[in-house]
Amino acid sequence: MARKPLLSGNWKMHHNHFEAIQTVQKLSYLLTDADYQAVDVSVHPPFTDLRSVQTVLESDEVPVALGAQHCHWESKGAFTGEVSPPMLAKLNVSYVIAGHSERRDLFGETDDMVNRKVKAIFAAGMTPIMCVGEHLEEREAGTTEERVSSQVRAGLAEVGAEQAAELVIAYEPIWAIGTGKTATTEDAQAMCAEVRGVVRDLYDSSVATAVRIQYGGSVKPTNTAELMAQADIDGALVGGASLDPDDFSRIVQYHRGE
Ligand code: PGA
Repeated sequence: MARKPLLSGNWKMHHNHFEAIQTVQKLSYLLTDADYQAVDVSVHPPFTDLRSVQTVLESDEVPVALGAQHCHWESKGAFTGEVSPPMLAKLNVSYVIAGHSERRDLFGETDDMVNRKVKAIFAAGMTPIMCVGEHLEEREAGTTEERVSSQVRAGLAEVGAEQAAELVIAYEPIWAIGTGKTATTEDAQAMCAEVRGVVRDLYDSSVATAVRIQYGGSVKPTNTAELMAQADIDGALVGGASLDPDDFSRIVQYHRGE
């Protein structure tokens, strides 16, 4: 079965809950049934907005999936400031980002922590969007493949084939995030193919065929269609351009070919 593309808006630390409500309402006016048939869409607001966004999506029956940006791997306990996967599941969160490069670089998340989260997100009945990607120095040193493949392997340790087939992996070259620089389409495709190859090595070709791989890093309305035309790119993880519903809807509507 063909993989249904997933376009995800990662709002990072933007939009309070009032702004969040306005943003999803506007997005819902711009997207149509034809869009939802062609692609899956998720929005990932900050924790404080989740309940408000959930209410809007459910009361207006908007088929945009609710996503979170982060979680802890334990279900409960003395972890001040953290939020657990079952808490997110109770809000009908469908997708949780794990191991975004900002969490890895600014908050010390390790491959082992990402792996624990991936397992905990699955255990709570949600789908992880596991982020991998190289720094500019790694790209310049020619170690991109090594870095990304070790992140994929570590993140999937002890994850069974059935769950791995449901996973979303976001390949985001760190030097392209929020910088306006995008990997060339060829590089983005080559790295997404590399990621799929690692999944094939770890499991088999049916898991590799099923797993959805997003590209992320300065995705905009003007470059989405070209990226999405690549064989191994099944979606996009969009930061800056997802904050504005006009831009994000144009990204989602790349499939119209306009
Ligand atoms: P960007 O962010 O689209 O603003 O580059 C992408 C991301 O960090 O997920």
